[in-house]
Amino acid sequence: MDYTFSGPEKDGLYKAIFSRRDVRSHFTNKEIPDDALVRILNAAHHAPSVGFSQPWNFILIKDADTRRQVKESFLRERERSIKMLRGDERQEKYAGLKLEGIEESALNICVTYDPTRFGPFVLGRTSIEDTGVYSVCCAIQNLWLAARAEGVGVGWVSILSNEDVERILAIPSHVKPVGYLCLGYVHEFADKPDLERARWLPRMGLAQVVWYEKWGVHDSTEWAGLADSVNKAE
Ligand SMILES: Cc1cc2nc3c(=O)[nH]c(=O)nc-3n(C[C@H](O)[C@H](O)[C@H](O)COP(=O)(O)O)c2cc1C
Repeated sequence: MDYTFSGPEKDGLYKAIFSRRDVRSHFTNKEIPDDALVRILNAAHHAPSVGFSQPWNFILIKDADTRRQVKESFLRERERSIKMLRGDERQEKYAGLKLEGIEESALNICVTYDPTRFGPFVLGRTSIEDTGVYSVCCAIQNLWLAARAEGVGVGWVSILSNEDVERILAIPSHVKPVGYLCLGYVHEFADKPDLERARWLPRMGLAQVVWYEKWGVHDSTEWAGLADSVNKAE
């Protein structure tokens, strides 16, 4: 096997990364064919995981009644968020945002974390317990990028009560829902995040998040060359 990426292969990877979007609308009614869905799920399943514990499961959901119940959970949690913003000028903007596509998408997937998988001793999880959940997030990111390459949009809905999700999907008490995802082909992928376009928040500059050697250090003669390029990155 040739372990190097050719120019077009690299371009493809970065295209998936930079054009991936969180998608809540513009879903078409085209079904996702089984072979594409299997490729997407298999990409997720090949994510890194702490101690190779592979602590994820992917619950595939099409049933309309299940989705209606999840949507109701979303609506309750959304109301709670709106109340939290009482007196805040962002309340009206929040209320106008489209933040899920539970019923319009082709498919919902709940990605769960099972801390007992290959446990209780999981190599590498002995000091930082959260590494189990981090592993599931790596799988979700793989899924998100593979879906983008397949032309399938993914939206992550976290405005949900996990207790509701556990009850609706009959998830056992030791397992934690990590991500509730809505997938489907879309008419378009926006070139910027919806929240950026709605002026909820701007994308930060790379230079604001890259520091040198110690927390908060953004000015370093040692790193001056790289810092110059970091400052120019878009
Ligand atoms: C853990 C997590 C939870 C999220 N929850 C929601 C959500 O409940 N509703 C929503 O509209 N977007 C949700 N998003 C999507 C983010 O809003 C989105 O990723 C961000 O605005 C950047 O946009 P982009 O993904 O299109 O680049 C979530 C993303 C992550 C990573």
